[in-house]
Amino acid sequence: MPKDDKTYQPKVAGLPVAFDDAAKQLTIQSRLIPKDSVYYEPQGDELGLFEKAIAEHLSVAMIGPTGSGKSRLLQYMAAKHERPYFYVVGNTKMGVDELIGTPLTEGDSAVFMPGPLYQACATGGFIAIEEVLEMHADARTCLHSLADARRSLEVAYVNELLVPDENFVLTIMFNPGAAYQSVNNLWPKPSFAQRFVFIELPYVRGNIGENILMKESGCDKITAEYLMIIADRIDTAIRDRALTLAESVGYHALVKTAKLIVAGTNPQKAIHACISRSLSPNNSDVKTIDTMASFIKPASR
Ligand SMILES: Nc1ncnc2c1ncn2[C@@H]1O[C@H](COP(=O)(O)OP(=O)(O)O)[C@@H](O)[C@H]1O
Ligand SMILES: [Mg+2]
Repeated sequence: MPKDDKTYQPKVAGLPVAFDDAAKQLTIQSRLIPKDSVYYEPQGDELGLFEKAIAEHLSVAMIGPTGSGKSRLLQYMAAKHERPYFYVVGNTKMGVDELIGTPLTEGDSAVFMPGPLYQACATGGFIAIEEVLEMHADARTCLHSLADARRSLEVAYVNELLVPDENFVLTIMFNPGAAYQSVNNLWPKPSFAQRFVFIELPYVRGNIGENILMKESGCDKITAEYLMIIADRIDTAIRDRALTLAESVGYHALVKTAKLIVAGTNPQKAIHACISRSLSPNNSDVKTIDTMASFIKPASR
């Protein structure tokens, strides 16, 4: 369209970006996690795989049940690499604008206010897009070019093909087994899924789980072993169909239980409050778990 055509009025394309060097520096500073401040207990070879993905500029999908360490792993990696950490939680209303950015108009003028994804690209940040299956499908599609070999993001408002800083890392997270999601939402489309390196984080038990509980709650080895036996029994009951739960007990719940026990709560009460009651809306399931737990005693107390 010729510039002198009076009918031509670009609405938003080509907007100036409200993210100057000072704003960038401020964003970086506020999002840096101090090096060595994040504890992450490796489950297997996920750290090696993650490092290789970063070195090759590949995008990562972390999958696993709730409280299996997905969010913690990215925080750990961002801190280790001393990169700013961003996270977004997908929801059904989330669109492309919320992720990339929106225009801010004031009178006749408008500027582009960068969203978390734009900011992460521009600052070489590590971004976690959590609950990616909850997001609107269009918002997922906008990630295609960023996640694959093109490694660029179309930013329509500024008419820019944004090429991220070389340190930028895109990660998505979801829980493929989550029974609360609709059937259509249990797995992304192949066109989306195949652009990512998958890191699987199932629930770890045994020594690794005990270490997580001891470091996160300050509990002793006896308490950690005790809670691992309970978790193990719940896993088994689900496998044997003695319990029909959406999923087994994760580390959000286990760490809280350990903290209450450290604070002096009776273990049975702590288990009821943090584990049995949170795992099922069904009172008979809650009773089954409470009863099962009542037969297990901490090794020595
Ligand atoms: N591998 C791990 N190392 C250290 N802490 C962990 C690990 N896995 C789980 N946790 C503990 O469990 C909690 C939940 O983990 P998180 O990463 O938030 O789970 P999600 O998989 O739901 O994102 C963390 O706050 C932390 O206390
Ligand atoms: Mg999480």
